[in-house]
Amino acid sequence: MPQHIAVIMDGNGRWAKKRGMPRTAGHKVGAETFRSIATYCKDIGVKYFTVYAFSTENWKRPAEEVDTLMNLFRRYLKEAIETMAEKNVAVQVIGDLSVLAEDIQKLIADCNREAQNLENPAIATLCINYGGRDEIKNAVRALARKVQAGELLPEDITESMISEHLYTAAMPDPDLIIRPSGEIRTSNFLLWQSAYAEYYFTDILWPDFKPEHLEQAIEAYNKRQRRYGGIG
Ligand code: IPE
Ligand code: IPE
Ligand code: MG
Repeated sequence: MPQHIAVIMDGNGRWAKKRGMPRTAGHKVGAETFRSIATYCKDIGVKYFTVYAFSTENWKRPAEEVDTLMNLFRRYLKEAIETMAEKNVAVQVIGDLSVLAEDIQKLIADCNREAQNLENPAIATLCINYGGRDEIKNAVRALARKVQAGELLPEDITESMISEHLYTAAMPDPDLIIRPSGEIRTSNFLLWQSAYAEYYFTDILWPDFKPEHLEQAIEAYNKRQRRYGGIG
């Protein structure tokens, strides 16, 4: 079983369009898919489940669509705070959260506080206003400040130090990254962390994604031979 599964939740808009519905309707169903797949992951023993929910580039979308997504984050964060103890799933959010509405930032803080009471929980991570390049830029800035302060020599910067300055510092790298909806690209997701991840692409649109599709992805993952540059 992969320890860490990450998903680029894509295809909500096309799912809605196919049905003659507004794109926002696709996001609502996509959010329900997140809930059911996160629960399923926990049930089958996946310790870390990470989803790309809103990228640093998604602000380009119409305000109404962005508002719908932000309202969905509000709703699901509230639900997470209420049900976390019962489910033993710690929900956390990563990304540049500083530009999110204050009430959303407060919900995220409440979530983190609630998560601290859990014992050995499964970890569900929502990436909101997340960009892989933005994340690496922030890590570089933090390390540069240490060099500037005379606390660190440039030649002493290690790969682990860079990992430790990413939003995912406390998490293992993803083993399996799933992208539904037929697009074959990373779209700026976990650029550093995905160095040796196994990718799985499927044409299924995210709102149609069911536990059986996750099972298919895990089955494909289990047939792969991970060599990490060696000869296996
Ligand atoms: C993914 O679905 C959700 C977000 C990026 C927020 P899309 O909204 O990108 O759906 P498509 O790709 O347009 O179908
Ligand atoms: C990636 O999907 C971002 C999220 C799923 C949050 P996009 O729909 O934004 O990616 P592109 O634009 O097709 O590359
Ligand atoms: Mg998309």
